[in-house]
Amino acid sequence: MHIPLLARLFLMLLTMLIPAAAVAGVNTLDELEKVYGDKACMTCHEKVHGEWQKSLHSKSVVHVLGGLRNFITFGLTRDWKKPVDKANLMRCMHCHAPLLEHASESLMADIGALIVAAFDGKEGAKKELSRLNVNCIVCHNTAAIVETNLRGQPKPGVYYGPTGKTTPAHGTEKSAAITTSAFCSRCHWLYTPPDGDTLYCNTLYGSYQDAYRSSGGAATCQDCHMKSKGRGHTFPGAYEPEMVREGISMDLHATGAILQPGKGIKTAVIIVGLMNNAGHRIPDG
Ligand code: HEC
Ligand code: HEC
Ligand code: HEC
Ligand code: HEC
Ligand code: HEC
Repeated sequence: MHIPLLARLFLMLLTMLIPAAAVAGVNTLDELEKVYGDKACMTCHEKVHGEWQKSLHSKSVVHVLGGLRNFITFGLTRDWKKPVDKANLMRCMHCHAPLLEHASESLMADIGALIVAAFDGKEGAKKELSRLNVNCIVCHNTAAIVETNLRGQPKPGVYYGPTGKTTPAHGTEKSAAITTSAFCSRCHWLYTPPDGDTLYCNTLYGSYQDAYRSSGGAATCQDCHMKSKGRGHTFPGAYEPEMVREGISMDLHATGAILQPGKGIKTAVIIVGLMNNAGHRIPDG
């Protein structure tokens, strides 16, 4: 069939602009991992990748399996009689596995079934799900622009970072947002799904603003959780004893005293002060 040159150019341009996955959604976990996974970053950013693997961000689905399963089995299915579909699963996955924005409805149905199967201990299911997380592309592309209505959507293949150092390996851009606490607030705070509900899983950023910043605290989330002590991408939190110790300090004052003068009963008055040094309420939840 003969297609005029101009029409052919137009078709070429169209296919370049709209990757097939963006229209129908990705149908398998293999494909999702291939296009949006962390493996492609590992070769060159080995150190960061190793740190990230130790963080809860790399386990953000398998670590909360019980919560996700209860949401599906007792919430959606039993009590609310709602479908286990993409719109409803994204109520959690918007933060726990944002890459699923690219998934098709059929892949989302598979993920729902995998969560229940993994909770029931079905072999292999948990391993499959461990491929879903908050990875490099999520933070350095998908979630990197805070005001997308003003600044536009993140460009595919461009990684937004604190310096925007250029490299022939891939596009980079400096992101003003990524070094601010507002960036972390996208997931560590309230969420408004497209239907306008308000969902909260954790509200840590609220207490950061209301209790810490408002009383003069100046550190950003990144200062304490990344830059301090070379923590980098390990993002220690409530599961890291060293971090927990840093969050709470004890102030002990002991004073000897004699109660009931004359009777000589010695006693000691001990004042224990517990101080919260974290930039927000602890524990969260
Ligand atoms: C706005 C983003 C966001 C949404 C939406 C969200 N979560 Fe979370 N969730 C988080 C973050 C961030 C944490 C870690 C909080 C912390 O440790 O302070 C978390 C923690 C959890 C935990 C506790 C993990 C632990 O430390 O014990 C469970 C369980 C959980 N989420 C389940 C869900 C379920 C189920 C849904 C959907 C109904 C959901 N989440 C929706 C961001 C979100
Ligand atoms: C939870 C969000 C998050 C995830 C996940 C994440 N990053 Fe980052 N990354 C950041 C933030 C925030 C900074 C900037 C820290 C600063 O300087 O304030 C950063 C900085 C960087 C930098 C530049 C400075 C440095 O530390 O070397 C590189 C490169 C980088 N990230 C690569 C990666 C790669 C590769 C992965 C996946 C293995 C990854 N990041 C996962 C949030 C994230
Ligand atoms: C072929 C090697 C290579 C691969 C693969 C690669 N990068 Fe990079 N990346 C670099 C180099 C080199 C730089 C320049 C800065 C530096 O030296 O760290 C860079 C810079 C960055 C920055 C900017 C840091 C800043 O300071 O602003 C981010 C973010 C980043 N990469 C993320 C990623 C992510 C996400 C992936 C995987 C999807 C990835 N990179 C894959 C080599 C690579
Ligand atoms: C795309 C969503 C997302 C973004 C952006 C994000 N996080 Fe998280 N973060 C999560 C989720 C989800 C968890 C919970 C993982 C779990 O409990 O399984 C988490 C866990 C954590 C934890 C460990 C919590 C614990 O209970 O020990 C820390 C610390 C943390 N994030 C800090 C940050 C900081 C600092 C930033 C900004 C630089 C950030 N996160 C950006 C989603 C996100
Ligand atoms: C002044 C330092 C400091 C700042 C600023 C700070 N944090 Fe923390 N954060 C800590 C310490 C210390 C802990 C450990 C305390 C604990 O959980 O017992 C912690 C714990 C956490 C946890 C685990 C909480 C839990 O109980 O499950 C999360 C998630 C977290 N921080 C995220 C953030 C985010 C997001 C920001 C910015 C909005 C932030 N932090 C700002 C020091 C800080």
